[in-house]
Amino acid sequence: MGGQPCKISEEGRQVMEIPFLDLKEQNRSLKTEILSLWEDILDSARFIGGEHVSKLEEEYARACTVDYCVAVNSGTDALRFIFLALGLEPGHEVITVPNTFIATTEAISQAGGKIAFVEIDPGTYNMDPANVEAAITSRTRGIVPVHLYGQPADMDPILHIAQKHSLWVVEDACQAHLAEYKGQKAGSMGIAGAFSFYPGKNMGACGEGGAVTTNDADLASKVRMIRDHGQARKYFHDMEGYNGRCDALQAAALRVKLRHLPAWNESRRRNAQRYLDMLKDIEGIILPEVADYILPVYHLFVIQAYKRDAVADALKQRSISTGLHYPIPLHLQEAYEHLGISKGSFPVTESCAEKLLSLPMFPELTEEQISYVCESIVEVTARL
Ligand SMILES: Cc1ncc(COP(=O)(O)O)c(C=O)c1O
Repeated sequence: MGGQPCKISEEGRQVMEIPFLDLKEQNRSLKTEILSLWEDILDSARFIGGEHVSKLEEEYARACTVDYCVAVNSGTDALRFIFLALGLEPGHEVITVPNTFIATTEAISQAGGKIAFVEIDPGTYNMDPANVEAAITSRTRGIVPVHLYGQPADMDPILHIAQKHSLWVVEDACQAHLAEYKGQKAGSMGIAGAFSFYPGKNMGACGEGGAVTTNDADLASKVRMIRDHGQARKYFHDMEGYNGRCDALQAAALRVKLRHLPAWNESRRRNAQRYLDMLKDIEGIILPEVADYILPVYHLFVIQAYKRDAVADALKQRSISTGLHYPIPLHLQEAYEHLGISKGSFPVTESCAEKLLSLPMFPELTEEQISYVCESIVEVTARL
């Protein structure tokens, strides 16, 4: 097992410890550069706003091929501020998917909107455009496709439906930094895109962070005000806003990381290809479908496994950590009991929630580690 750390399992076999995500290597390689920028910030005592925040906004806007980027405190704030800036009001409905992290729908509700779920596509796990039109009512204002696991949703039909019904489209790109759909960057296709810089994301802060991307100058300036107590000029408040700013320490670290993001995404694609090659034609395993016009960034590499929980347990026995994204669909969460959506309403999402299994994925994962994970999966599924 080469240079990888090994130990002996309870069954007496040699196992390799594979974390689900390991940020330590990445942090080690960037430590000197980030610490030197942080030292300058400490010396200047300029912690809020300043050059690093505005430079991050310029550089991330350029990377996403949009005119404006507004750095905020989290991906959740990015979504919430977009909805508020778009003038969402009580009773307005927003269409999204039940297979996502709750932040997508929290932001809709917290901005005053009503959540309307549509079923996902069984191959990509993203919004199925074929289901969207039936969910539109006179109260619908927008559609929020989520580019889940780093794969953009099928945007052309979604944008077409939105245009036909005069709705806006906001991309939840929190898991899709620099992913592409037909050559267009995630976060550049709808009226706005929301990104998360949570530490575990493809580009993660050393704390919380997020960003709004848009080509709409008016929307960008509204989000800019909402993130800072509704003011564009200190103590002149046009509206009530929030404290949702991105701080200088995070912005400086994110600027360093942005330079490495394309290479990290490339490594994730290489790792995903290894998984795809080694796990193809394995009975009991379904691999993700990616259309040839999509450039995914594999925030997560998610397979479907029959007897998923038993597979995850058996992998754990071999010191392989896995994740579940997401084990309970949003419409069945206690938080959404008041929506009155019963089990069976979204059968594709519900079936996926029982079978989806996220395998270890990060840029520094080695070929040897991936081989060990795949060999273990083959062995385990054959036995189960
Ligand atoms: C799909 C999706 N939307 C929104 C968010 C919210 O981002 P944050 O954790 O930065 O608030 C996340 C992050 O976990 C996410 O995965």
